[in-house]
Amino acid sequence: MKVVFVPDEMTQGWIEIFAAEAPDLHLRIWPDIGDGDAECAICGAPPPGLFARLPRLRVFFSLAAGVDHLDLGQVPPHVAVVRMVDDSLSEAMAEYVVMAVLAVHRDLVSYIDCQQRAEWRRLPEVRARDRRIGMLGLGVLTRAALARLAPFGFPLSGWSRTQREIDGVACFSGADGLRDMLAATDILICLLPATPTTRGMLGRRVFATMPCGSAVINASRGALLKENDLLAALDEGQLSAAVLDVFAKEPLPPQSRLWCHPRVLLTPHIAAGVDPRGAVRSVVAQLRRTGRGDAIAHTVDRQLGY
Ligand SMILES: NC(=O)c1ccc[n+]([C@@H]2O[C@H](COP(=O)([O-])OP(=O)(O)OC[C@H]3O[C@@H](n4cnc5c(N)ncnc54)[C@H](OP(=O)(O)O)[C@@H]3O)[C@@H](O)[C@H]2O)c1
Repeated sequence: MKVVFVPDEMTQGWIEIFAAEAPDLHLRIWPDIGDGDAECAICGAPPPGLFARLPRLRVFFSLAAGVDHLDLGQVPPHVAVVRMVDDSLSEAMAEYVVMAVLAVHRDLVSYIDCQQRAEWRRLPEVRARDRRIGMLGLGVLTRAALARLAPFGFPLSGWSRTQREIDGVACFSGADGLRDMLAATDILICLLPATPTTRGMLGRRVFATMPCGSAVINASRGALLKENDLLAALDEGQLSAAVLDVFAKEPLPPQSRLWCHPRVLLTPHIAAGVDPRGAVRSVVAQLRRTGRGDAIAHTVDRQLGY
């Protein structure tokens, strides 16, 4: 099978990893693409001219979990777009979600604030069984996070576009389902993809539907969150805390109020980075499937945008 790899600064060293993991795979390295008869391309973001120069392309492997950075309209309709799904990415996201949930659940946000002021103050403890977790999205990353959260004993629920069934998780879908879940959620975790339908959905209306004093964790994409609505909800006490990994503008501008808000913990988009070896193994497994004529996993639905 003829495969083109487009290296960039994010994928330094990947050519060597491909050589170690799949010595039989002869990658053509962009822009040196030979006859232009490759059927598969692997890259972060497609460079200008990629699709025009590869008329026989069948599969485009994107090296990110989300595809919101791609202009899907630029990809010829017959080319399957495959997103990155890899166990190490899922495990990293599960760790981040557990860290953020425990930080909120055990009042770390308040204790950090107290520490800044050298204030010795004990807050009432809430048991995990009394802290209700609601997940927005029930995809690959959410399921990994739910598996890690389950042993703590939190009541778990989740909302998705289609109705799902997951053991030990109350599953919701649709507008009524969203309202019902939000009304019974103390910690809301967003792992929805950024699509035309989800952009801006984490805003005033969602926060107002949640119980007073609940918290929000966003580890999906900054485009989902209306940051001013979040700040207002925190200032008013409708929300008690937020843990944010992603932002409308990245890097987060120094003048953003989020940096120094006492109810916000933030990280610089590090929840789950692509692990080079895991990613290469995942792409190689998919290439082998393609070579055998088997169905490829994790293809993107262009209409839905994820
Ligand atoms: N911060 C980071 O470092 C980082 C790292 C990796 C990924 N991410 C983000 O995490 C996102 C989720 O990844 P994933 O692999 O879990 O995605 P996924 O497997 O595609 O799952 C997406 C979930 O969202 C649901 N969904 C999509 N649109 C919806 C809508 N309009 N209403 C209700 N539910 C909707 C889907 O519903 P159905 O089940 O019905 O399809 C599915 O359950 C990625 O898109 C990316 O933006 C962030």
